[in-house]
Amino acid sequence: MSQHTSALAIETAGLVKTFGETRAVDGVDLAVPAGTVYGVLGPNGAGKTTTVKMLATLLRPDGGEAHVFGHDVVREADEVRGRVSLTGQYASVDEDLTGTENLVLLGRLLGHHKKAARERAGRLLEAFGLSEAAARQVKHYSGGMRRRIDIAASILNTPDLLFLDEPTTGLDPRSRNQVWDIVRAVVAQGTTVLLTTQYLDEADQLASRIAVIDHGKVIAEGTKGELKASVGAGTVHLRLRDSGRRPEAAEILRRSLDARVQLEPDPVALSARLGSATGDTAAEQASRALAELARTGITVDNFSLGQPSLDEVFLALTGHPTDDTDDTDAEEMAA
Ligand SMILES: Nc1ncnc2c1ncn2[C@@H]1O[C@H](COP(=O)(O)OP(=O)(O)OP(=O)(O)O)[C@@H](O)[C@H]1O
Ligand SMILES: [Mg+2]
Repeated sequence: MSQHTSALAIETAGLVKTFGETRAVDGVDLAVPAGTVYGVLGPNGAGKTTTVKMLATLLRPDGGEAHVFGHDVVREADEVRGRVSLTGQYASVDEDLTGTENLVLLGRLLGHHKKAARERAGRLLEAFGLSEAAARQVKHYSGGMRRRIDIAASILNTPDLLFLDEPTTGLDPRSRNQVWDIVRAVVAQGTTVLLTTQYLDEADQLASRIAVIDHGKVIAEGTKGELKASVGAGTVHLRLRDSGRRPEAAEILRRSLDARVQLEPDPVALSARLGSATGDTAAEQASRALAELARTGITVDNFSLGQPSLDEVFLALTGHPTDDTDDTDAEEMAA
């Protein structure tokens, strides 16, 4: 890595971090284009937070190299710190202060004058839908509000690179959408975002490129389109009226869809993972299958079409589902 393309916000080569016997990050190569959202997708314990912490200079790598805007994260840590922000870490929101007080205080710490700090705080609270909660102590915020004030605090000084470590885990759909809108707005201002997530749909919504990591290794990398093509179009879930006809239904699905059919524990239920090879959308494939079943006189009581899940991504990429055998507690980000 002697040459650093200025168009890259992050570049890592063979990045390693071990904790005792655990190789939490096991030779990760990343190239994150500046000005984009880059998704790092992986299950619990995959090594997402550890990677982020090394890039944000909070953990020292045990091997390999990482550069942020061309600066080495170990030798030039100060330069890196000057350009990045991380939710839940640098943005130390005080539970006992109100939303406004927190943002004004942080603004003052960042060197803004009182008036400028107040104005910026007001604008951010409004943009984040927190105006009504502005005068309330943060400890009384809901999970979604808390996540939003964390992000607001981390972008007080528009950073060049923002790390968002699972910003929507545990949020309800409405709060997730609000956080997604914020991420889009942040990127529109020119900030590069490295987003870690366990949700394929989140990466799909926000990221232009995605790295899938598992056991500390990148197992796939590419644009959303490339990743989705490797995963397939989605999964059809069916419940039949008559369990006796399930083998026949499975055969029809296999034939008409070129899909991987799975018989569920419930004797009337089956699912089919749709391929993306035919170029038909999931909806087109599903309606073809339903028509075929109807023609054969098989009654379908219930039908749903699901987006590919993280599990399906892993199944497609590795041939096995995500395993949770690694039950060591992953450390929480907020310290
Ligand atoms: N400080 C630590 N000491 C020991 N082991 C650690 C430490 N931090 C992380 N690990 C281990 O390293 C591995 C990767 O953890 P990491 O927190 O990076 O995963 P993650 O992808 O962020 O997971 P999650 O989605 O649960 O946040 C896990 O096996 C975890 O238990
Ligand atoms: Mg984590």
